[in-house]
Amino acid sequence: MGEIFSVTSGKGGVGKSTVSVGLALAFSQQNLKVLLVDMDEGLPCLDLMLGIEEPCIFTLSDILLGKEISDTVYKPKKYPNIHLISAPENTGMIDAFAFTNFVNKVKQLYDIVIFDFPAGIDFSLYTCLPKESLFLTVAFPDPVTVRDASVVSRKLYGMGYNSRLIINSFRYKLSKKQIFKNIDQIIDESALRLLGIVPQSEELTLLSVKHKLNPQGNAMKSFQRISKRLLGDNIPLPNPKKI
Ligand SMILES: Nc1ncnc2c1ncn2[C@@H]1O[C@H](COP(=O)(O)OP(=O)(O)O)[C@@H](O)[C@H]1O
Ligand SMILES: [Mg+2]
Repeated sequence: MGEIFSVTSGKGGVGKSTVSVGLALAFSQQNLKVLLVDMDEGLPCLDLMLGIEEPCIFTLSDILLGKEISDTVYKPKKYPNIHLISAPENTGMIDAFAFTNFVNKVKQLYDIVIFDFPAGIDFSLYTCLPKESLFLTVAFPDPVTVRDASVVSRKLYGMGYNSRLIINSFRYKLSKKQIFKNIDQIIDESALRLLGIVPQSEELTLLSVKHKLNPQGNAMKSFQRISKRLLGDNIPLPNPKKI
């Protein structure tokens, strides 16, 4: 039975799609079969990040209308262990019953399923996910997006879901300044549980051009650590200088 992770955030543009792909790469390197589901209607991007050249004609909407999952997934040439389902045309039109069935099916087919949700406060589809699935709330290392993440996490908790915080775009130089004291405080006050920290990196900015990450680079290493924690390993946070 596969694990389900849903990537979300309070604010847009904080790196949800980047984190979704980074984690998919890290899980696939551990020989796990990964399904990425792009839920960002109108703004799909995971195909670009994974280097899928063919146009993604079929989407989640087709599966929910009865098309076979195996005929609807896109397979990046470089990553045989990763399959992608493209974003539905209109998430507002998604039938909750069909979506729940879809989630139950893909759980049987894949080791890891990652939903890349859009930012915001439309939580209607979340209730279709099994209660044991985990939400990954992404924020930048600034008090505003961390506070937004804490609002989302609290709401999820009220719905019966656990979530973990991923801080994206971390820069050591800034960490010395006052700003990080504020973040620590917000994390403490909000009872957010920190899962991992992803560095700001040129490699990640260029992901949709190069479609790969250096396995020895700091970005990939951060995704490897986070993926292992998600699989239950106890991996301590490194020295901030090395993130
Ligand atoms: N850690 C990072 N370092 C550098 N650039 C990043 C990082 N994370 C995200 N980006 C860039 O920021 C932009 C928004 O990221 P994206 O993953 O699309 O955010 P979201 O899915 O939350 O809207 C993209 O251009 C991406 O390349
Ligand atoms: Mg996105």
